Amino acid sequence: MDTKTLISEEIAKVVPDLDQETIFNLLETPKNSDMGDLAFPAFSLAKVLRKAPQMIASDIAEQIDASNFDKVEAVGPYINFFLDKAKISANVLEQVISAGSDYAAQAIGQGRNVAIDMSSPNIAKPFSIGHLRSTVIGDSLANIFEKIGYKAVKINHLGDWGKQFGMLIVAYKKWGSKEAVQANPINELLQLYVRINAEAENDPSVDEEAREWFRKLEAGDQEATELWQWFRDESLVEFNRLYDELGVSFDSFNGEAFYNDKMDEVVDILTEKGLLEESQGAQVVNLEKYGIEHPALIKKSDGATLYITRDLAAALYRKRQYDFAKAVYVVGNEQSAHFKQLKAVLKEMDFDWSDDITHVPFGLVTKEGKKLSTRKGNVILLEPTVAEAISRAKAQIESKNPNLADKDAVAHAVGVGAIKFYDLKTDRLNGYDFDLEAMVSFEGETGPYVQYAHARIQSILRKANFTADASTNYSLNDAESWEIIKLIQDFPRIIKRAADNFEPSIVAKFAISLAQSFNKYYAHTRILDESPERDSRLALSYATATVLKEALRLLGVEAPNEM
Ligand code: ARG
Repeated sequence: MDTKTLISEEIAKVVPDLDQETIFNLLETPKNSDMGDLAFPAFSLAKVLRKAPQMIASDIAEQIDASNFDKVEAVGPYINFFLDKAKISANVLEQVISAGSDYAAQAIGQGRNVAIDMSSPNIAKPFSIGHLRSTVIGDSLANIFEKIGYKAVKINHLGDWGKQFGMLIVAYKKWGSKEAVQANPINELLQLYVRINAEAENDPSVDEEAREWFRKLEAGDQEATELWQWFRDESLVEFNRLYDELGVSFDSFNGEAFYNDKMDEVVDILTEKGLLEESQGAQVVNLEKYGIEHPALIKKSDGATLYITRDLAAALYRKRQYDFAKAVYVVGNEQSAHFKQLKAVLKEMDFDWSDDITHVPFGLVTKEGKKLSTRKGNVILLEPTVAEAISRAKAQIESKNPNLADKDAVAHAVGVGAIKFYDLKTDRLNGYDFDLEAMVSFEGETGPYVQYAHARIQSILRKANFTADASTNYSLNDAESWEIIKLIQDFPRIIKRAADNFEPSIVAKFAISLAQSFNKYYAHTRILDESPERDSRLALSYATATVLKEALRLLGVEAPNEM
C-alpha cells in the first residue's frame, strides 16, 4: 500500500465524518520536510464539527495509531505525518525482492479478456507511421492490461477488403507482372493502384470494371480470390518482417475480409429492429439522437457493404468469440467519428456491451515539423528507419563500450526501444516530430537513457557480486533513497492508472523519473563503499533495476544487462 493510502486509512478510522477518498484528496505534501512527509488540513472539518481547526487537528493527532509512523503531530490547523522511512523501505524492498518481475502485478482483470484492435495496416499499401503508433501503443496496452490480471487478445484488423481490391485486380491484369510483385510487393502494388486510379479519372469504364471484379471477389469467384489471396500473402510477408523487427505478435489476423460472410446478420438485426432507413437508395442508420449528425452508411445503393458494416460484424464476432470485458480500438484521431458511429449503432441494436468499447485515439506524427504526405514525398519508410535507428545505436555503443560482447543484439534492443519509447512517452493524443537523433540519444527523456540506467545498476550489482535475499531486513532512511522508495512503492498505482486511461505514457514517464532519481542517488551515494548500509543500498539498486526492467517490458522495450 502506498503511504498516502495508508495515512488516509488511518485518518478515516478516527474521522468518521469524511470518507477515505476525500481524505486522500485533501492530503498535502508540505514544502518543508520539517513539517513531515504528508499533512492533513483540518479546515474542512471545522464546519461539520463546529470546532476550531486547531482543536480538531490536535484531537485527531492524539487519536491516530502512531505505530505506523515515526511521529504524528498537530501544528496549528494541520496534522503532520512523519513516515517511518526505515520500516517502509524495508517493506518495499522485501516486496520487490520476493516478487521479482511480478512486483506490482494485480488481479483486477480476473482473467477476463481485453480485445485490442491494433496495427491494422491496409493490404497493398505502405505501413504508415500511424500504423506504427497503433502497433506500439496497442502492444504496450496489452502488456499493461495483462499486468493487472486481464488476458489481452491482440487483433490485427487488416484492411484487406473493399472496392480498391477490384481496382487492383483490373490494374494487375492490365499491366502487372508476377515477378515485379514478388520482388517488391507493396511498392509494386501501390504503383499499380496509383496508375489505375489515374486512368479511372479519364475512363469511367475502369470504375465499372473494378466494381465488377469486387463483386466477383465478394461472390467467391476463383480467379478474383486467388489474386486477392496472393496480394494479401505478399503484403503480409512484408508486414511480418516489420513485426519481427519490432518484436510484436498478434493473436488474430482476421481482417475486414474475414467478415464478408458475417455481415448479413448485422443487416438482419438492423432490419428486424427497424433501424435501417433508405437514403438516396442507400441503407443508413440515423444517429441524430446521439448528437451524431451523419447517419451510419451500412449498405450502398449497389448493395456494397462498407468499412463500418465490417466493423459491426467484427464487434459481434469478437463479443461472441472472446466475451471481452473491454474492446479497445487503437486507431488515429482522424477516425473518431467512425468509432462514435460504431458504438452508437451497437447501442441502437441493444447490445449493452457497446459501453465496453473504447476508441483509443492518438495524434499525428510530423517530420521536420511538416505533415507527412506520400504525395509530397515527405514520408517515413519504416523498415529503413528502424534499420537506421539500430545502426545509430550501434555507433554509440561502439564508442561507449567497444568491448561489449553482444553488440548487435544490444544495438537492436536500443534502436527499436528508442523508437517505441519516444512514441510511448508522449501523451498519446499529442503528436510528435519524428526525430531519430533525439530518439536514440542516451541523454534526455529517452529509451536509451532508461536502458542505460538499468544496465549501469546491473554492472554495480555484478561488481558487488550481490544477490538480493528476501529474508534479509534491508532498510534505508536517507532523503535520496526515499525518493526512489516512494516511486517504487507507487508502481502498482501507476500501472493501474495507465490501464484506466489507456495511456502507456504514464508508465514511460514513471520510468524516466525512476531512472533520474537513481542517477541522482548514484551521484550522491557511494553505493559500493564499505558501510553498514552497503547491502541495503545494493538492495535498493537491485529493486530499482527490477522495476525499471519491468516498466520497460510493459512498454515493449528490452532492458539489456550491459550497454
Ligand atoms: N485499416 C484501417 C486504416 O488503416 C484501420 C483499421 C482500424 N480498425 C478497425 N477495426 N476499424 O485506416
